[in-house]
Amino acid sequence: MSILVTGGAGYIGSHTVVELLNMGKDVVIVDNLSNSSILVLDRIKEITGKRPEFYQIDISNKELLRNVFEKEKIEAVIHFAGFKAVDESVKYPVMYYENNIMSTLSLIEIMTEYDVKKIVFSSSATVYGINNPSPLVEEMPTSATNPYGYTKVMLEQILKDVYVADSDWSIALLRYFNPIGAHESGMIGENPLGIPNNLMPFIAQVAIGKRQELSVFGNDYDTVDGTGVRDYIHVVDLAFGHIKALEKISESKKVHIYNLGSGVGTSVLELIKTFEVENKIQIPYKIVPRRAGDVAICFANADKALNELNWKTTKTIADMCRDTWNWQSKNPNGYRQS
Ligand code: NAD
Ligand code: WQD
Repeated sequence: MSILVTGGAGYIGSHTVVELLNMGKDVVIVDNLSNSSILVLDRIKEITGKRPEFYQIDISNKELLRNVFEKEKIEAVIHFAGFKAVDESVKYPVMYYENNIMSTLSLIEIMTEYDVKKIVFSSSATVYGINNPSPLVEEMPTSATNPYGYTKVMLEQILKDVYVADSDWSIALLRYFNPIGAHESGMIGENPLGIPNNLMPFIAQVAIGKRQELSVFGNDYDTVDGTGVRDYIHVVDLAFGHIKALEKISESKKVHIYNLGSGVGTSVLELIKTFEVENKIQIPYKIVPRRAGDVAICFANADKALNELNWKTTKTIADMCRDTWNWQSKNPNGYRQS
C-alpha cells in the first residue's frame, strides 16, 4: 500500500516524501509541475536511494486521477497540491478558487470512489485571520483577508463536512506557520519563480547576489524591535509533523486539527541577524512602509501537536538559516542548471 502525495514535487511535499521513503513507506507523487521541477525526483533518489512513482497530472482532471487510483494501491493521501501566493490570489481570485477548491473536490470524489478515506491536508496559519491574538490556538475562529486564505478556510470546512456526512473518513488539518529552511544535504529546497514574496527566500537571494537589498516592511509595529514577528518552522520538522499526523488518522477516525509551529516568535531583524552571523554574509536592507494585510505578530500555541502527536520542532532559527544558505549556495538557480 502506498501514500499518495499530491504536490509532492513542491517545497514541503518533496521534504515530506524524503521522510516517508526514509521510513520505508511506498510513495506515489502526483504533481502537474506548475510550481516545481521534474529534477526533484532525481534529488529525492540521491538522498534516499529510492525513486517514488510519479504521475505528471493535474489533480482536477478526474479521469487521470482515477487512473492513478486504479493502478496504485493507495492507503492514504497527503494533499499539498495548490497555489500559495497571497498577492497572486488577489490578482487572480478565480484561478485560485478553481485550482485550490476544484482540484480538492475532485480528489475527494475519487478517494471516495476507491474507498480511500484518510487525508492529511495542508492548511495554514492564515486561517486565523487578523483578529485573533497570538499565541494562536486551534479552537479560535477562522477567517481570511484574501482569496488564498479563503481557499484554506473553505477547504477546512469542506473536509469537516465530508466527515460529518461519513464518519468513516479520518482527516488531519495541519495549520503550518512559516516554513523555511531546506534538507541538510542541500539537494532539495524552496525554489520560487520570479521575485520572492516571502522573507527567507528573499534574504537567500540577496545573499547569493541576485537581489541588491531586502526591503523590511515596517519597523513601527508593537514588537521587540518594531518589525513583524512570525513563527518560523524548519521544513524538515514540518515533514515529520505529517508523518505523525498520518499515524494519528490511522488510529482514530475524526477531524484532527493541529498547529504546526514552534510556539516562538522571531522578528524580521532577528532573522536577518541570525542569517548574517550563521553564514557570515551581510544582508543589506532598508526599512520601507508596512505591507498591506500584514499582522504585527503571529505565532502558534503548539501544545496540541505535542500532547496528541508527540511532535514538536527540534531545529533552531540558526539551523534554518544555515540549511537555507546551504541549499541556495549549492543551487544558485534552484533546480535550473543556469
Ligand atoms: P509548492 O508550490 O512548492 O508545492 C505545491 C505543488 O503542487 C507544486 O509542486 C505544484 O506544481 C503542485 N500543484 C499545484 N496545483 C496542482 C494541481 N492542480 N495538480 C497537481 N499539482 C499541483 O508549495 P509548498 O510551499 O510546498 O506548499 C504546499 C502546500 O502547503 C500548499 O497547499 C500551500 O498552500 C500550503 N502552505 C504552504 C505554506 C508556505 O509558506 N510554503 C504555508 C502554509 C501552507
Ligand atoms: C514574514 C515577515 C513581513 C518579505 C505568508 C502568507 C501565509 C503563509 C506563509 C501560506 C512579515 C516581512 C517579508 C520581505 C519583509 N503561506 N517581510 N520583507 O506574511 O507571515 O506569511 O507566508 O499559507 O499565508 O501570508 O510570511 O515570509 O511573507 O513575511 O519585511 O521582503 O517578513 O512583513 O513580517 P507571512 P512572509
